[in-house]
Amino acid sequence: MRTPQLLEIIELGNPLLRSVANWVTNIKDPSTQELIDDMLFTCEKADGMGMAAPQIGRSLRIFIVASKPNSRYPHAPFMEPTVIINPEIRLGMEVEADYEGCLSIPGLRGIVIRAKSLRMSYHDRSGTCQLDRAYDGFIARVIQHEFDHLQGIVFTDRANVNSFITNKEYQRMMAEECEKIK
Ligand code: NI
Repeated sequence: MRTPQLLEIIELGNPLLRSVANWVTNIKDPSTQELIDDMLFTCEKADGMGMAAPQIGRSLRIFIVASKPNSRYPHAPFMEPTVIINPEIRLGMEVEADYEGCLSIPGLRGIVIRAKSLRMSYHDRSGTCQLDRAYDGFIARVIQHEFDHLQGIVFTDRANVNSFITNKEYQRMMAEECEKIK
């Protein structure tokens, strides 16, 4: 079995983060499967809640959702790492505001208003079509954030600039929240 490779995460300013990603036509090809293995490995090592292929410099409509509590997101729910290919999403009507960050924009958080729930159809890594799956809350937020990456959009485009805080301040704020609800 091939050892997964740690991929370089590109950062804001790299034009690849600003381009619309291409549809995947060869899901079962070893090259695509190896890329997926590398993305899963890289996402875990980077403590990411998700990662989209454009973030590792590949213009492909693939992202990972891998939610679990960690130091960057102490309140994240647990979700088995899931590979999403060629997704189509339909947003629910209700919205909510929460902080987001991005591995391609290190050190920054900002408040983004997103749909509370959504439905998504996609291909999984075996090429099977998963139809009209429902997601809500934090996972729905991660999906919308990663889907944006496929469109060349980053969270700072959607956040109010006055909401920007550093990751250090965000961590301090979260720790204070935890104290309050103890
Ligand atoms: Ni991101």
